[in-house]
Amino acid sequence: MRISVIGLGYVGLVTSAGFAEWGHDVVGVEASPEKLHALKRGRVPFHEPGLAEMVKANLDAGRLTFVAPGPHAIHNADLVVTAVGTHDGNGGWQTDTMLRCLRDVVPHMEDEAALVVRSTLPPEFINRLPRMVDDLREAAGKPTVPVLTNPEFTREGRAVRDFMEPERIVFGVASDPTRRGTALVSHAYHLAQGPVLVMSAVDAAFAKLGSNLFLATKISFANELAALCEAHGADITQVVAAMALDSRIGGKFLGAGVGFGGSCLPHQVTMTAHAGIAEGVPTPLISAVDAINHDQRKRFVDRMEVLLGGSVAGRRVALLGLTFKPDTDDLRDAPALSIARILHERGADVVAYDPMASARLRAAAMVEGLQTVASLEEAFEGADAVGLVTEWSEFAEVDWADAAVRMNNALIVDGRNFLDPSVLSGAGFQYVGFGRRPVGEAADPARVSLPIGGGETIPVAIPVSGGTTISVG
Ligand code: UDX
Repeated sequence: MRISVIGLGYVGLVTSAGFAEWGHDVVGVEASPEKLHALKRGRVPFHEPGLAEMVKANLDAGRLTFVAPGPHAIHNADLVVTAVGTHDGNGGWQTDTMLRCLRDVVPHMEDEAALVVRSTLPPEFINRLPRMVDDLREAAGKPTVPVLTNPEFTREGRAVRDFMEPERIVFGVASDPTRRGTALVSHAYHLAQGPVLVMSAVDAAFAKLGSNLFLATKISFANELAALCEAHGADITQVVAAMALDSRIGGKFLGAGVGFGGSCLPHQVTMTAHAGIAEGVPTPLISAVDAINHDQRKRFVDRMEVLLGGSVAGRRVALLGLTFKPDTDDLRDAPALSIARILHERGADVVAYDPMASARLRAAAMVEGLQTVASLEEAFEGADAVGLVTEWSEFAEVDWADAAVRMNNALIVDGRNFLDPSVLSGAGFQYVGFGRRPVGEAADPARVSLPIGGGETIPVAIPVSGGTTISVG
């Protein structure tokens, strides 16, 4: 079948290449001339494992072509899929691009085609969609077309696999009285393995929202639990290892640390909390998830201050990782950027290394006072403390004894609980994670003392020289 995909960001480009891989004839439509130029030459303008190869193979096979917007882009298309951006870049929604896209596309669609909205949109917009499409078709003197949604559950870094081997495929029916649209979109996905759920469009919008809100809630829950663990000398990683074996809970997305970033989770959490207030539907849980998440970034810097004896002013802090998670070059709402800003505001000299050269370049332009370097060695040189913010696999391979020699002080805050504290202490480091017992010289004695009756405290984890931790109780 012939499919046109409008908007070639992460979602649109993966969708285009994936449909082409399944043998469909796909036209990817991109408004940015620079992006289009690169794509036509098989160059993917962002980092996503496996995507460049899939784009190139399907371009070469003639199943995938890239064009600028215009009526020709959807000529003869059975399905028109919109994947345009809906974020305003400031944590809010913007629907102008989507409205423009509908105005440009809907009047020119073939009478037998169906419209599939893959962009994430607020529920109230989804509810108005059929009416908008009907009006545009009527004004063009044409019969209306079926309108469906198909929310994406794509994780950056594994977007290709998420598309080709989805855990679920959801079709939201906004308007499809004859079920022709549902049949067309089902055919587009007929080679995908995975359960297909057909529901109303607003249900589908909430299926996506609910998934993201739940994932975010798990992370903020883990961060709150980590704070309790710290207060009592427990180790959250041990606690989660035990919780994970309960099949009702599972261990994923319970990683404590600097919290969630990216284009989806923070945006959907913040927008839900705001919409709840505006619509008079209280969402205290989601507001708390949001507040906890933002606090984690500040708590990371607070921990750094404690390690450095009370202030980061005039100290050189090396951050490891800038992207919001590994295997992407995406900096959208990346915790590292907020952390670098807070450190700079508190007078630190901030240097950062990330394996993605493009991320280093963009981050340096986005954060005042941030210096980025092209190697770990340069980051460690003369640093007073290291902060790990993104768990890139190469950080597990660091020679910490060598890093300690290059640094002024062998201090580390592990914002992802990614490193093995015993390895770090063996290399002479003082190590502090999130919800883990500090190792090396205790950074904050209060954290390793358990209050008992009569105002006394007993030590529950005694750091001794050489990095061994003796646990009591
Ligand atoms: C997310 C959803 O997972 C995906 O289904 C949706 O379609 C888009 O949003 P993505 O933004 O790629 O995907 O990132 P995800 O893997 O969900 O991670 C989000 C953030 O949570 C990252 O910053 C990650 O570091 C953080 N995280 C994840 C934690 O802090 N702790 C964890 O245990 C897991």
